[in-house]
Amino acid sequence: PVSRNGQHVTYALTAQKGEMTFVDGITTDTYGYNGNFLGPVLHLTKGEHVTIQLTNALDEPTTFHWHGLEVAGDATDGGPHAVIEPGVTETIDFVVKQQAATLWYHPHPMGQTAKQVYNGLAGLLYIEDDVVRDIPSDYAVNDFPIVLQDRTFVDGNIVYEDVANTSSTLGDTMMINGVVEPFLTTRNEPVRLRLLNGSNALTYYLSFSNDMPFQLLATDGGFLNEPQEMTKLTLGAGERAEILVDLTNVADVALMHDDIVVLPIETTGEAVQANYSNTLNEIALPVDVTTMEPTKHITMEGMTTNFLLNGQTYDETRIDLRQQRGVTEVWEIENIINEEGAMAHPFHIHGTQFHVISVNGEAPDASLQGLKDTVTVQPGQKVRIAVTFHEVGLYMYHCHILEHEDVGMMGQIEVY
Ligand code: C2O
Ligand code: CU
Ligand code: CU
Repeated sequence: PVSRNGQHVTYALTAQKGEMTFVDGITTDTYGYNGNFLGPVLHLTKGEHVTIQLTNALDEPTTFHWHGLEVAGDATDGGPHAVIEPGVTETIDFVVKQQAATLWYHPHPMGQTAKQVYNGLAGLLYIEDDVVRDIPSDYAVNDFPIVLQDRTFVDGNIVYEDVANTSSTLGDTMMINGVVEPFLTTRNEPVRLRLLNGSNALTYYLSFSNDMPFQLLATDGGFLNEPQEMTKLTLGAGERAEILVDLTNVADVALMHDDIVVLPIETTGEAVQANYSNTLNEIALPVDVTTMEPTKHITMEGMTTNFLLNGQTYDETRIDLRQQRGVTEVWEIENIINEEGAMAHPFHIHGTQFHVISVNGEAPDASLQGLKDTVTVQPGQKVRIAVTFHEVGLYMYHCHILEHEDVGMMGQIEVY
């Protein structure tokens, strides 16, 4: 931070051009926040008053969006209406009202989001609170940020225009925290990995090379009530998960996506005994939603072209939905299979953390039991979510495949 005193923290972020050498000793043009690629981890605390100075040093318009943060639906949220022109600095102010969570920030200018994120604009935002939880929390010692992204290098260069695919821009090279061929060396103990799917379009199907179980601690909006043991985890674009992996006496192992090695992990030293507690949180639905019928219905469709929400593309002059602040409504999100077929779409809402109530009428599995701001809806699925907004204003909801968002698979809701 620029400064931190008492309950007030100030950060300064500049979106700027940079240069990086990723492969074959070739230097490529990039974008970054306060640097050449990606941005710093911002550390905020519940209850804190936050000021962030936003500078656009690019030569094109951008915005600064705080994905998962419950802030007013105005320039603070940084959606497509909050454009900052080149050379301009703006300041936002807000108070952190939500619980501990791993969120992220990225640009959101209409039609340019995919390119700007691909070129390197993205960063993590951690919220901590004063609940004492017995989990690893030493930054980069036993609590690691893991930003997952895929890229295709063309002669060693990152050139979005050369590889862009309106349906989904996928890479042939995995990167973690902006590094090609990453690896992790840790102490011989349980570690916490804060996973962000920061890819434009790829859905990750994660597991470990030895199929060892791990504990899911947190999803998009914060901690689950108790850790959930699993061996596989699906993470759609924009989603986060925090996992606890016991590496005690596991000499070497790798985090995998399908059959691809994403992150080789090596442990060193004597085993450190650590026992972590089981109670993480106490979250409950704001109201009894079991008997509530959906009041909002959203269909998603499109596989190669015509990416639509409720049969329409985004229109900045149209308010698609309205909802009253503080009132919980059930939304039903359906991924329609049309003549083209269908693909998974990660559905995201700004300014709120919601509960997933059901998937095709069944209780959601463990990975969907925490607070979420993005939920991956598979072809043919109907997902019901309970949504409450705590601030008023205009918020976006959209598919988080950035190519789909850019061509208008997005709507706006007015919270009053
Ligand atoms: Cu992560 Cu509207 O976005
Ligand atoms: Cu968002
Ligand atoms: Cu989509």
